[in-house]
Amino acid sequence: MKGFLGTGANFGADLNLVVQLIMGVSLAIGALLAKQKRYRAHGICQTTVLLLNLLMIGLVMWPSFQQQVKPALSKVLHKWYYEAATIHAVLGMAAELLGLYIVLVAGTDVLPQWLRFKHWKRWMRTELVLWAIVLLSGVATYCAWYVAPFR
Ligand code: HEM
Repeated sequence: MKGFLGTGANFGADLNLVVQLIMGVSLAIGALLAKQKRYRAHGICQTTVLLLNLLMIGLVMWPSFQQQVKPALSKVLHKWYYEAATIHAVLGMAAELLGLYIVLVAGTDVLPQWLRFKHWKRWMRTELVLWAIVLLSGVATYCAWYVAPFR
């Protein structure tokens, strides 16, 4: 199904782009909530984004990576089309896993003491910066796939 942004993208990719940008803004707002010491609202906001992103990975990005990128990886890694998506996917996995770990430490008691970090701010700031980099590399992937080839 054709997308709605007027590029070469299909509907899923356009939807993913818009949802990802909204989630990026939501995370920034969530960080401001923490600055205002509204920790409960902060936790709910960031956890919701993290879980919604799991859904977007499962529905759009993981299948797309398996179909479009993985089969060609060994042969054509020099091509920007594959490079952008591969860098993005590796960083994206790291950001999602780090986010899940932070939620487990901050929001639950399931992890033993030795696996729990104490410097919350440091971990959460690192995650926010990593997420921003992943978001940018996702937009770069979108441009490499759907904008540049259709010019
Ligand atoms: C913090 C986590 C992530 C963020 C913020 C993010 C963000 C984005 C954005 C903005 C796009 C452009 C929209 C699109 O083309 O669909 C995108 C596309 C893509 N992402 Fe991610 N992503 C994340 C995690 C991942 C992971 C874990 C993978 C690997 C499995 C991945 C693989 C891809 C692929 C293959 C595309 C191109 C999809 C397509 O257009 O069909 N992403 N991502």
